[in-house]
Amino acid sequence: MIFNSCKFVTMEKDLGSYRKSYEKSELLLNDTPENPLALFRAWFDEVDEHFPEDETNAMTLSTIGLNGFPKNRVVLLKKFTSEGFIFYTNYESEKGKAIAKNPKVCLSFFWAGAERQIIIKGKAEKIAKKLSDGYFKSRPRGSQLGAIVSQQSHIIENRDLIESKLIALEKEFEGKEITRPDYWGGFIVKPVSIEFWQGRPNRLHDRIYYIFNEKDFWVKNRLAP
Ligand SMILES: Cc1cc2nc3c(=O)[nH]c(=O)nc-3n(C[C@H](O)[C@H](O)[C@H](O)COP(=O)(O)O)c2cc1C
Repeated sequence: MIFNSCKFVTMEKDLGSYRKSYEKSELLLNDTPENPLALFRAWFDEVDEHFPEDETNAMTLSTIGLNGFPKNRVVLLKKFTSEGFIFYTNYESEKGKAIAKNPKVCLSFFWAGAERQIIIKGKAEKIAKKLSDGYFKSRPRGSQLGAIVSQQSHIIENRDLIESKLIALEKEFEGKEITRPDYWGGFIVKPVSIEFWQGRPNRLHDRIYYIFNEKDFWVKNRLAP
């Protein structure tokens, strides 16, 4: 049982000796493209091919909550285009409410196998309803019903409640098409800056930072590690 270790009473552990040298690759300013989305695509494909155990499309989404605190959570990147990065969620969840109040968000990827990190700051907006409809349709029925069953981020009394709701909905929708509920759909994050981090030996990591200029082009620079 994986939780056996909970019985240990000491809740202190010194991690000072945890150390890793990053040596797999490098990122040189001269080798980077003008558009960071091209580099994102190249890195994504490399990680996907060589380190699929990193769950390549899992990304951390950070929002500023209604209480002023930032909050991170993992969501799945479902599409990227020259416009931005799309994920799906419940619009009435904690993150949905946070984005409605403050659309400035941060996405980040940490691909441990490739020793890479990407940090994207941008503005989130709801995608067109018909795009959310299309994606919802492509999901397995279980995931479609799951989206309807769960009032994401609300307190629930116990697990039985959602499980019995799922069984009831399975019966209700038997043989019928399940349509997307209004409160579930996609957000696109349109980037304003993208930072690429490649681990290097001796903590002298490579960091290339792109920022979108008011004159409509990307400016890139190297940052100190
Ligand atoms: C690997 C992984 C993938 C996830 N993908 C999604 C996702 O695509 N959309 C989503 O709403 N939640 C996803 N979650 C759950 C979120 O991390 C989070 O628990 C949920 O969205 C509620 O967040 P909130 O209460 O801050 O709104 C995922 C979690 C993990 C660990």
